[in-house]
This record gives sequence, structure tokens and C-alpha cells, in this order.
Amino acid sequence: MVNNVSSIVLSDNLQTANIINMFIKDTALFDCKGVVSDFSSCFDIVNSSPKTVLIVDMDTAAEQKIDFITKVSSEVSDCKILIVSENPSVELMVKLMRAGAREFVSYPLIRSEFEQIMKKMYDSFAGSFKEESKCRVISVFSNKGGIGKTSIATNLALEIAKTTRENVALVDLNFQLGDVTTFLDMKPSFNISYMLDNLDKINGDFLLSTMEKYKETSLYVLADPPFFRMADDVSPKQISKLIDILGRTFAYIIIDAASAFDDKTLTALEKSNIILLTAVANLPAMRNCQRCLELFEKLGYHKDKVQILINRYMENDEVTSADVEKVLGRKIYWRIPNNYFTMMSAINKGIPVVELNPSSNIAKSYRDFALYLTDNIFRADFERKMNT
Ligand SMILES: Nc1ncnc2c1ncn2[C@@H]1O[C@H](COP(=O)(O)OP(=O)(O)O)[C@@H](O)[C@H]1O
Ligand SMILES: [Mg+2]
Repeated sequence: MVNNVSSIVLSDNLQTANIINMFIKDTALFDCKGVVSDFSSCFDIVNSSPKTVLIVDMDTAAEQKIDFITKVSSEVSDCKILIVSENPSVELMVKLMRAGAREFVSYPLIRSEFEQIMKKMYDSFAGSFKEESKCRVISVFSNKGGIGKTSIATNLALEIAKTTRENVALVDLNFQLGDVTTFLDMKPSFNISYMLDNLDKINGDFLLSTMEKYKETSLYVLADPPFFRMADDVSPKQISKLIDILGRTFAYIIIDAASAFDDKTLTALEKSNIILLTAVANLPAMRNCQRCLELFEKLGYHKDKVQILINRYMENDEVTSADVEKVLGRKIYWRIPNNYFTMMSAINKGIPVVELNPSSNIAKSYRDFALYLTDNIFRADFERKMNT
């Protein structure tokens, strides 16, 4: 046992739990801590083992178990959670993933399948597990400046880091006018320029130890260069490789994209899983948005990849949400309320809106937006898993 990974099964059903435990023992990979049915002994075991796979049988006391998983994933760092359940609903799975569970198997347990998943979890501790990247790339885009891209990318990235507790990279792709660092009042010693020049030497450990972390969160910032870098020096290929490298280490990459359809921005958009096409509710912005949608369609982007985000939303906007949806032929994905005072004051102080005023409508909107977005991702993941 090179890795020294423990396993513990939490279940009220001794019979099932013993079978699970036997399967685990047979893998000969884990320091098997057995079976428990009460939360406090389970927590003590998980908390005192350096690396643990916690297997939770969800067929009883679902709500308490969700709370327990939330507690474990927020208080214990090296614990990975596997859910075992019979016919879970999508809603339950989304809640579990939000709580911090990442893997799932359903009853009846098939030994080979179960062993495979346990092996995968074991390998993931050593970092030797090579699976296709699970990273989500989310670009905040508008072909106009001043719409709120940087505000959105920054506050959304922070909220995603907080809700998922996963490592999130916030990347400023505005080579000459980046302001992510101003919005977060950071002066990173390491910036995108260095990365682009050293793409072949960079690995995950290096990224996590060198990229600047925002306070005590799991948000890492890759800033624009502090000097004027000629954007022409940077090739689309480099951007593509940069995203691939970050994708091996981060669960989410949030890109504050430049407001232009140049080849670097297009590469970033191409590599994104979701493009948040940002607009305000007025006619010129709608026209712009329409043009962007047309271009994305020509580029062959899937409809679900591009989502409409309305910033500075007001109930009494002359152009209503219904108008927007009609003109664009799309549902609005999310609306962020207009709150110039809070936003401006947060920017001036160099702090996210949630820190300036957590009870403001805009802070709440960002929190809910991060949950909505990640829940949609979890739901799509789970549905894909169920269909394969
Ligand atoms: N939800 C909002 N309500 C009111 N003002 C906002 C909101 N979001 C952004 N702003 C303001 O819009 C301006 C431009 O924001 P910024 O994020 O820099 O846009 P971009 O990156 O698209 O140029 C800033 O002055 C900011 O305070
Ligand atoms: Mg900006």
C-alpha cells in the first residue's frame, strides 16, 4: 500500500455494508476501517486518517447524510466520497454533488464495476489516475467593453470556488487592459506571460504553488502581464495549450475574455464548455448579442454552449426579459441585478461584492448563480453517466 489510503463504509444496512467492505478488502489497496452506521464514529475515522475514501450508502436518512457529507467535505481535506444508492433521483444526485460527493455507483453492485471505481479513487490520491479532463471552462464574453465581464468573471469564479471547494483558475485574457488583479487587489508575482513562455515546463504542482491564491479560498488567479505585452506575440496555439495545462489541475477555469473576435479570444471560446454571452437589456446590446449568436452558430457551437447573461438587470427595464428572449430566440440563463453603488464601491476597494456587502442583492445573485451553474453541470454529468 504505497499510498496508504483508508476506506470506511457508512451504512445502516449491515448486510449491504459487509458486501461492500468485502469488495474493498479484495482490492487489497485500502487500509480497510470497516463499517459504521453512526455519523460521529464515521467522522472520527475520516478525520484521523490522512487519505480516505468514504463510501456512503444513501438508501436511508438521505437528508442527514447530505448534511454529513457537507461537513466532511468542508472540514476534512483528503477525503473522497463515493455514493452507493438504488435509483437516485437527479435532484438527489445534484444535492450530493453540491455537498461534495464526486463518484457514484448504483445497486445492484457489480463487483468488477465497483472495484474499478475504487481503484480509480485510490489512484486519484496518487495523482497517477489519468482520466479525460473533468475541467469546465467557462468564458465570460461580450464583444463590447464596459458590460461587466470582469465584475462577473471575478465574482462568479470566487463563488464557484466557495460552493464547490474545488480549485478554480480565474484567467485574465485581456492582454493589455486586464483588471482582474485590480478587482481583487492582488499583485501576483506570476502572470500569464511567464506561463506562455514556459508552457513545456509547467505542471500541476507548480501551478498550485506558484499561482496566487485569493485569500483563504481555492481561487487561483492568472493575471495579465504587468507590462504591455504585444498581443501579437501570443499565438492561439499557446492559448489552447495554456487552457489544456490548467485543465489538468483545476476543476473550473473562468476566463475573463477580451471584447474582440481575435484569434486568441476565439480559441478560448472554442475551448470553453460554456460561453456566458453577456449583455445589458437595451437595444444596441441586443443587436450586438444577435450578431454574436449568429457568429457562434456559424462556428458550429452547440446551442447549449452559449448562454445569455443579462447584467445590470432592472425590473422596470424598458426592454423586458420577454423582449430579450423574443429578439434573441433564447432563454435568459441568468440575470444579475443592477447595483452600481455596491459594484463600484467593491471595485474601488478591490474586494468582491460578497465581501463588501454579503446581504446585497448583487452578492446574493452571484451566490445563487454559482449554485445554478454548477448544479446544471452536475446534472448534465450525472445524466451522461446514467446513459452510458
Ligand atoms: N451588476 C452591476 N450593476 C451596476 N453596475 C455594474 C454591474 N456590473 C458591473 N457594473 C459596472 O460596470 C462597469 C464596467 O464593469 P467591468 O466589469 O469593468 O466591465 P468589462 O470588463 O466588461 O469592461 C463598472 O464600473 C462596474 O462598476
Ligand atoms: Mg474588463
